Amino acid sequence: MNTSRRRLMQVSSLGAVAALAGLKGASQAFAAGEMKIGFIVKMPEQAWFINEQKAATEAGRSGDFIVVNLAGTDGSAVMSAIDNLSAQGAKGFVICPPDVRLGPAIYARATGANMKVVSVDDQFVSADGKPMPQVPHLGMSGYKIGQQVGQTIADEMKKRGWKPEEVAACRITDQELPTARERVAGATDALLAAGFLKANIFDAPQRTTDTEGANTASSPVFARHGTFKKWIIYALNEESVLGGVRASEQFHLGADDVIGVGINGTGAAFAEFSKPAPTGFFGTIAVSSALHGRQSAMNLVSWIRDGKEPPADTQTTGTLMTRDNWKQVKEQLGS
Ligand code: GLA
Repeated sequence: MNTSRRRLMQVSSLGAVAALAGLKGASQAFAAGEMKIGFIVKMPEQAWFINEQKAATEAGRSGDFIVVNLAGTDGSAVMSAIDNLSAQGAKGFVICPPDVRLGPAIYARATGANMKVVSVDDQFVSADGKPMPQVPHLGMSGYKIGQQVGQTIADEMKKRGWKPEEVAACRITDQELPTARERVAGATDALLAAGFLKANIFDAPQRTTDTEGANTASSPVFARHGTFKKWIIYALNEESVLGGVRASEQFHLGADDVIGVGINGTGAAFAEFSKPAPTGFFGTIAVSSALHGRQSAMNLVSWIRDGKEPPADTQTTGTLMTRDNWKQVKEQLGS
């Protein structure tokens, strides 16, 4: 298949190497007692994060380490999760932080408790807004995956024969979160390159990166620009795009009037594709949440066990998932 799939495979085979390294270290771990790590996520109810924690836990079963799954929905929840892990003798944790600007505080708390920390999905930033080099990270190649979103929408617009001047975009944004900025910028650039009109892009700033936050943000956009009868919707993830699609339905826009494309490829998208009739949610760029969970946990474990520091920044790639192929893609990604 295409290069993105090949790259995903490369990351997967890296996973196999790390798994072997983990197994090699297992005998030492047994001698020293069972090793424990934490896995802290910002939104424990979101399918993406449920899958990550589950895959990390399964990796622990075969790699002889225990994963303690915790919710870190805000700064104080993260700090008490770290204290809790420290009290249990955990040697480190993987985290997707609720706010990337908490990075320096989280890092200080972790090192103060003699724990190693790696981030997944959303990368810590220091006071100057730059990524923290001390904390290895694994996440999506946000800009490229965003471009896939934009290209998918542009292709579908062409297929439907939509003219740029009659189409508006509901761009759901979170300017505080680099993960969101990169993905949305990639999508916008690809759309503009394909001839989308800049003046027809309307921002819907979301307070939280979930369906509810996006729904609240999108409704006023459709209300304000009611002259447009054809819409595209994009955001940092599929939950947010679904929030936008639900808002569009309230303005009587249906599957033929809306092209929404998300990112993640998890339960939220499967539920939508399983509905008997299509909706404005056209597709999503699927990335393996299982791979993110497993790989970040194994990276951390081999750092603790063997002193092997994980790569500073691992980037995963995505595959387009639609109503037509979602079951196959789900199978391929193991998520
Ligand atoms: C962010 C988003 C999640 C998911 C992950 C994947 O954290 O909020 O929905 O897309 O990135 O990296």
